[in-house]
Amino acid sequence: MTIVINMREGPDERGLRVAARLIRNGKLVAFPTETVYGLGASALDETAARRIFEAKGRPPDNPLIAHIAGMEWLEDLAREIPDTAWKLAERFWPGPLTLVLPAKETVPRVTTGGLDTVAVRMPAHPIALELIRMSGIPVAAPSANISGKPSPTDAEHVVDDFYGRIECIIDGGPTPLGVESTVIDLTGEKPLLLRPGGLPLEDIERVVGEVEIHPAVRGEVVDVAKAPGMKYRHYAPRAEVVVVEGNRAAVGRKIDELIVEFRGRGLKVGVIAMDEHEADAFFHLGKTSEEAARNLFRALRELDRAGVDVIIAQGVEEKGLGLAVMNRLRKAAGFKIIRA
Ligand code: TXA
Ligand code: MG
Repeated sequence: MTIVINMREGPDERGLRVAARLIRNGKLVAFPTETVYGLGASALDETAARRIFEAKGRPPDNPLIAHIAGMEWLEDLAREIPDTAWKLAERFWPGPLTLVLPAKETVPRVTTGGLDTVAVRMPAHPIALELIRMSGIPVAAPSANISGKPSPTDAEHVVDDFYGRIECIIDGGPTPLGVESTVIDLTGEKPLLLRPGGLPLEDIERVVGEVEIHPAVRGEVVDVAKAPGMKYRHYAPRAEVVVVEGNRAAVGRKIDELIVEFRGRGLKVGVIAMDEHEADAFFHLGKTSEEAARNLFRALRELDRAGVDVIIAQGVEEKGLGLAVMNRLRKAAGFKIIRA
């Protein structure tokens, strides 16, 4: 049975107490964060962590992020914490930043996907933060979607994927950022970006200087040992996705051409873009990269619901949150990119 707790008006003390007790008892609780909904369970309980993988259908070598509610919790999970980690944590926690560090022995290797590193983040959403604080233990929480599907940015997405299969869903309404946290690996010589996300790379570089970008971020095939999440298909709706990139005007013309071409083949066409297009279904991404980030996953889910066969997406500029948006779009497209 799944209890759905309504906190759309804000954190509710009694509901949080119920959910925190479930976490302490090894149960699964989905909750809103400022990025996307997380599917939470105790990060220190091997059996609970294993249930997360089972519920999502997630490959066991794709590690989970441990969510904490206080700076001092970091030392319970990680060792050899470099200055850059403290600097980034001081500046950006709570917030959409995940740090990969050497793991303490006490962190179950189920949680870390078998690695000797652990990913840690302190979320900024008041419901998430209070839930973790009241649980009193780090909470492992991947995005609360069936593995491979678009991440959930509203409780109804979590209900669609997990109702009846987990103990609790906290409904906190739509998530403010809409893309997952930025993941930075601090175990090497230089900080390494493993996943662009809700905290712009530019902001991070202002604090720690130049950050290397893992080649898989841009879709290049690489040694995936360090970034196990990268080898799996992601954010994929049922429909085929193509991304059109290049000069904005040329992209607009190309999208119109493609709409005609696909419809000529009898396909139902959906478009996700910042500029208007006539298609069988259209989802406006918004005007800024922040709006695009907030709307992207909902757009993919809604076009699926509209029953389109193919989704054409307009590329956006890779600045600020645009880097995260393009990374998600290219992955959703399985890197089928059309240059205009
Ligand atoms: O915003 C977020 O980060 C959301 C919310 C719920 O906090 N969580 C989330 O978790 O996106 P998930 O599991 O969907 O994505 C975690 C990413 C994966 O790409 C995973 O491979 C990577 O972080 N990751 C986790 N631990 C890692 C580690 N030790 N080394 C390298 N990558 C790691
Ligand atoms: Mg995910």
